[in-house]
Amino acid sequence: MDSLSRHEDYGQESLDESQLVTNPIEQFRNWLVSAEEAGIYEPNAFVLSTVTSANTPSSRTVLLKGVEDNGFVFFTNFSSRKGQAIEQNPHVSAVFGWYSIYRQVLIEGTVERVSERDSEEYFHSRPHESQVAAWSSRQSEPIESRSMLDERFGEALKRFDGQVVPKPDYWGGYRIVPSRIEFWKGRSNRMHDRIAFARTLEAENWKVTRLQP
Ligand SMILES: Cc1cc2nc3c(=O)[nH]c(=O)nc-3n(C[C@H](O)[C@H](O)[C@H](O)COP(=O)(O)O)c2cc1C
Repeated sequence: MDSLSRHEDYGQESLDESQLVTNPIEQFRNWLVSAEEAGIYEPNAFVLSTVTSANTPSSRTVLLKGVEDNGFVFFTNFSSRKGQAIEQNPHVSAVFGWYSIYRQVLIEGTVERVSERDSEEYFHSRPHESQVAAWSSRQSEPIESRSMLDERFGEALKRFDGQVVPKPDYWGGYRIVPSRIEFWKGRSNRMHDRIAFARTLEAENWKVTRLQP
């Protein structure tokens, strides 16, 4: 396990206040494009952390499907473990780790559901089989075996053969409305650059702060 004792140099490229745009969502868009251009696999994947009303944290990877002026959109099953945590407590955090370009973005905020229309529109843009899968899997619930899951999928494929698959009520989009977005750029000697944008949820203006690495 060589990785445990390696000491990578994170390079000289800096993150300077003068390079940042004043709106962190715009800045995020710029960095996502850079991650795409760098050829990062699934650059829109991020780790979403939730906390239940009993203070139990949990994390998992999801895919970002929209960067809107008011937040970051992903789609999932509302009845899943994450969905239940979000319904109990809308406060979440998100981590985009673009390690090969020495960049990380941390987002904190509260989650709201996107409109039914937006969920419908995205659901119907997915491949037919993915739409059918949303009916075949009660995400996060236990199942006896893989064969049982395959059987359910097979049945649903038959049921919806040649038909428009309706969006299940329990499936749709969430938007993370950010209150804090931190941009991290790795630098040599662990003297990294960290710039955080923060606002109260009601406020329009972002306060920009440089943090020690
Ligand atoms: C690269 C990657 C992308 C994923 N994208 C999604 C996604 O967009 N939506 C989703 O519900 N699950 C996605 N998953 C699966 C989740 O990580 C997770 O297993 C699932 O949502 C159930 O999580 P939960 O039990 O905490 O609710 C993805 C997993 C990986 C590894």
